[in-house]
Amino acid sequence: MTKENTLLSHLQTQGVSRRSFLKYCAVTASMLGLVPQEAKLLAHTLAVLPKPTVIWLSFQECTGCTESLTRSYDNSIENLILNYISLDYHHTLQVASGFAAEHARIQAMANASGQYVVMVDGSIPLLNGGAVSTIAGQSNLQMLRETVADAALVIAVGTCASFGGLPMADPNPTQAVSVQELMARGEIATKPIINISGCPPVPEVITGVVAYYLSYLEVPALDDYGRPQIFYGKTVHNCCSRLGHYEAGEFAQSFDDEGARNGHCLYLLGCKGPTTFNACTTVKWNGQTSYPMHSGHGCLGCAEPNFWDNGSFYSVLNSAPASGDGSTCTVPVIPTLP
Ligand code: SF4
Ligand code: SF4
Ligand code: F3S
Repeated sequence: MTKENTLLSHLQTQGVSRRSFLKYCAVTASMLGLVPQEAKLLAHTLAVLPKPTVIWLSFQECTGCTESLTRSYDNSIENLILNYISLDYHHTLQVASGFAAEHARIQAMANASGQYVVMVDGSIPLLNGGAVSTIAGQSNLQMLRETVADAALVIAVGTCASFGGLPMADPNPTQAVSVQELMARGEIATKPIINISGCPPVPEVITGVVAYYLSYLEVPALDDYGRPQIFYGKTVHNCCSRLGHYEAGEFAQSFDDEGARNGHCLYLLGCKGPTTFNACTTVKWNGQTSYPMHSGHGCLGCAEPNFWDNGSFYSVLNSAPASGDGSTCTVPVIPTLP
């Protein structure tokens, strides 16, 4: 590997200073809950990281997951890393099309057999043998099966790929399933899999998980739904800016009443924050600008299985915790680039 082929050299050609890169690593390490010694290792490993082979497959999706990443905020290191890792094949971002695109995928699989990462957004339809959604003459199921066969890791990006999401909602007209469901049924090879749920997921969570895997070549601790505990270990309610009002019993009664304007809790307006596990209130959105409840709308529960069918977006939860869990809400400081 030449120095020119490393992640750090790639970022430097894009105008990212070494200092900014190290700040990014420090923030990522803090999000991942790493101790200082591990943070140093992460920075070193990422700096000398050769271009990893990542094949990104998009099936029954709305492109929201990719949009979330590419429009996270201008010229972020996250975007630059995404560009760096995903050049081999990405339905939405790649320049190549037709035979050239498929050739790139096959070539990438052959060159990095047993080592590449497959990232998937969207669910996989099984209706009519999968014929309802095809790419290059292959059903989504065939393409996923072929691509996963020699992969080292599969990352399901978004609630559609993780749990079926919107395409799987009742009456599930295409018989959509998630990636992990296909593994459970033996339809595709069983590989280590990480679910990064959310509709879409927080961009920094996606790149944070990728950075972790590339640095340690292992899967972080997962919860019962296959999501990294470091990002999905707490409910969004736990670190919500309206939590104090929740605990004080101060609730907005409508979206435009005095309480809502004063930041009161949106629980009575159907907020699903108390039962939704995600990093929205810690990592936040749009360059740490905000998150749904901060902007005045309740959480829809988009990171949880069956959130569309559970619906009731504006109905009060059947039960809710008395308060947050009392743990500290660490809010990482995302560095700005020069
Ligand atoms: Fe779109 Fe949401 Fe599915 Fe992502 S998870 S592809 S944003 S519907
Ligand atoms: Fe925030 Fe919703 Fe919890 Fe209220 S119920 S504190 S708005 S997450
Ligand atoms: Fe989704 Fe709730 Fe976050 S709707 S974006 S998990 S606040």
